[in-house]
Parts: sequence; C-alpha cells; structure tokens
Amino acid sequence: MPIPPPTASPTTGLRALQAMWQQQHVLAALSCFHAELGNVFRINLPGFRPVMLVGPAANQYIFITAREQLLWRSESDPITHLLRQGLLVVDGEVHDVLRQAMTPAFHRRMLSRYVADMSHYSDQVMTTWPLHQPFDLLPQIRQIALLILVNAMFKTDFTPEMSRLWGAVVKTLDYISPGLWLFWPHLPRPGYRRAIQQLDHYLRQIIHLRRAQPITNNDDLLGLMIYEAKLNDELIRDQMFTMLVAGHDTSTSALAWAVYLLGQHPDIQQQIQAELDSVLGKNPPTFENLKDLSYLEQVLNETLRLYPPLHLGNRRAEVDLEFQGYHIAAGTRVCYSPYLTHRDPQHWPEPHRFDPERFAASAPSPAPYSFIPFGGGRRICLGNMFAMVEMKVILARLLQRFTLHATPAKIHLHMGVTLEPRPGVTMRLEARR
Ligand code: HEM
Repeated sequence: MPIPPPTASPTTGLRALQAMWQQQHVLAALSCFHAELGNVFRINLPGFRPVMLVGPAANQYIFITAREQLLWRSESDPITHLLRQGLLVVDGEVHDVLRQAMTPAFHRRMLSRYVADMSHYSDQVMTTWPLHQPFDLLPQIRQIALLILVNAMFKTDFTPEMSRLWGAVVKTLDYISPGLWLFWPHLPRPGYRRAIQQLDHYLRQIIHLRRAQPITNNDDLLGLMIYEAKLNDELIRDQMFTMLVAGHDTSTSALAWAVYLLGQHPDIQQQIQAELDSVLGKNPPTFENLKDLSYLEQVLNETLRLYPPLHLGNRRAEVDLEFQGYHIAAGTRVCYSPYLTHRDPQHWPEPHRFDPERFAASAPSPAPYSFIPFGGGRRICLGNMFAMVEMKVILARLLQRFTLHATPAKIHLHMGVTLEPRPGVTMRLEARR
C-alpha cells in the first residue's frame, strides 16, 4: 500500500528556516529537508504543495520511466502564458514533432558555423570593459549571450536593439521567475504587458522580414521553421520566444558563476590561461580546437555541478503515480532538482568544494543521472551542445584578454528563472600582455 511522501516536522521546519536565514536562499531550506527527510518529500505550504524527487533513481524515473505521465504544461503558470505552444511547455506528440523540426539547428555542422560569430560578439562587448575598477560582469555576459543567441538562431544582429529592448528582456524574465503566483496562481500581475508586447513585436518583425526575402535560407533555426517545417507565424513566434528565454538566461548565469568561482580560485584561473596560451595563443578558438580546451571544459562542468542554472525542474502528475512506495496523486506538482542531486554526498564526496578534477579524463565517470545540468531523456536541453560551445568561446576570449580579480562584495544565491549570483559578479579586470 503506497504511503504519502513525508513532510517536515516542526523541528525540521525550524532548522530549515534557520538555514534559509543564514544562507539567504530557499535552496538552503530544501537542502535541509533533503538531508533530514530523504529523496522523496513534500513541501507543505498553503497553496503550494509540490513533491520533490531527488537523486539518480528519481531523475531516471522523471526523465524516462514516467515521462508520459509527468507532463510539463501547467495552464496557470506564467511561462505557459508567455510561451504558449513553445517547445519547453508542450507535451506528447506535439512536443516530439516540434523538437524534431528544430533539432537540425543544433547539429555539429551548424555549431561549427556559429563559433566565429560567438567570438566576434564576445570581442565586441569585451573591448568596452574598464580596467582596474570594480565592475559587475553579469549584465555584460547577458549582453554577449543575447547577441550570440539572436545571431545564431535568427541570423539577426541584436546590437542596434540592445538598449531599447534590454528593459523588456529583464522584465519578462521577472514575469516567469518564481514568486507569489506559485501560492496564488490567479493573482493579477499588472506591469508586464508592455515588456512582453515589445519582445513579441520584435520577434514578429524578424519573421516578417525573413518571409519577405526572395531567397529561401535554411541555415538557421528561423529558416528551418519557415521553409522546412513550414510552421505558421504563431508557432514560430512561440519557438523564438522560447529560445530567447531558454537560450540566453541559462548560459548567462552559468558563466556568471564561473567568473565568480575563478575570482575565488586564482590558481585554477591561471591553469586555464596556460591551456589557452598553449592551444590558442592569441587567436580566437575554432570549432576544431575547442575540444583541446579540456581543462576549461572541466571547470565549466564543475561550475554547472555546483550552480546548475536550472536548479529545479517542474512537472505535473497526469495520473496517480507511485515512486519507491510513495503515492503521488494526480494533479500534484512534482519537481526534480539538479542542485540537490549535485550536492548529494552519496554521489559527490565533499559536495560543496569546487574541484574541477572531478571531471578529469582520469577520474571515474559520474553515476548515470547523478550529473544532470541539462536534464535528461527526450526533454534533455535542446541547446546543450550549443551552450557548451558558447560558454567555452566566451570564457576563452575573456581569459585570453583579462585576469579576473575578486572584490570583497558578498553574493548570495537567487532563485530567479535560473540560479543567479546576486547582486552580481563584481570583479576588477587586469589586461594580459
Ligand atoms: C548552461 C546553459 C543551459 C542549461 C544549464 C540548460 C538547461 C536545460 C534543462 C535542465 C532543460 C530541461 C528542462 C526540464 O527537464 O524541464 C533544458 C531544456 C531546454 N533548453 Fe536548455 N539549457 C542551457 C542552454 C540552452 C541554450 C543555449 C538553448 C538554445 C539555444 C537551450 C534551449 C532549450 C530548450 C529549447 C529546451 C526545451 C527542450 C524540450 O523540452 O524538448 N538551452 N535546458
């Protein structure tokens, strides 16, 4: 007979509150629940009662075993209102057909074409950076990620729109970030319409301009959607919006954490610079030599382990389910957590320590489903290879040019759409000769 998942006792609740107070983030409370209640537990707040499933077995259950019964779409969530029929928020056959149509934009052949522009946009932004004075790199990295995404996916230069649409991008991210709507889904949310409309209008204009071109050009995502998949403008708008959100905020936060960690670990920063000097010299990376930057890749993987941008994944049980003897009623919100999985001492010794050697070729491979920064199964991040290439290029250009020096500014984890360092990553930059 399956039993309900455990919830926190008053004493566990108190310890969770203390942890949250001390560390200033909600994930500290979730870590406390995980340590005391195990891999399956229920959060019991008024109006918000999700079941958390943590660890490799739970991840495999969510990604593979119960994939058809654990659906993404939740009609009352703001992200569904925003993305409508976007790949991220549709399920079943509609999802699979759309995904198949969009996948060619992420093939190796395409990735190799994006690399030169990734370097170009990194350089364009980095040449404006001041030296020797405290400077927040987070918005700068967001600019680079936006320029790269819009250029690669829609063959459009975002430079002229950056200052006009910056506020709209930030506001739209705020609209889909966790907030009071989790407890009161029907709470009115004024103040976002204009920002969303501005982005909507911008994306529709790009579609319109492309359709007006006499040549049929398929070598980007937009071209594929228009000429190969023959999607209508509404569906194309939804996929473009999905890419704009899923494809830049994630790499922005991962890179911000990487920069923060390298500021704290100058020895590791030096080791990356030595690798860059020997593989690239002063030249921009190419798709072919990116694979030789293996230490840089180790550092990025370790950053994604400690600070996975998507720290919580969301599903909804379509029918009654049972996992490891626990009953999950139809309609329950079910979450998996890369953050908690990646900090489980059972799978990651000294889990809070930054140690890129965990990902060295000579180290044992992580157990299946214990390292899941990009999710897994048929919904694994569509842009995972794109993101690794992009992050390598940006960090390579940054550390070829500059040495990062940490400032004493204190940061805490912020659960927005992605896991962000707040208030930012303030560094002093020194030019490398
Ligand atoms: C470090 C960077 C990134 C991280 C950590 C990341 C992480 C993830 C994760 C965990 C999921 C699965 C969500 C779930 O299970 O509910 C996902 C899905 C997705 N990601 Fe990423 N992502 C990154 C970058 C990108 C980029 C650069 C793009 C596009 C250019 C992208 C596009 C997508 C899309 C379209 C989906 C939905 C896939 C589907 O449902 O079939 N992501 N991402």
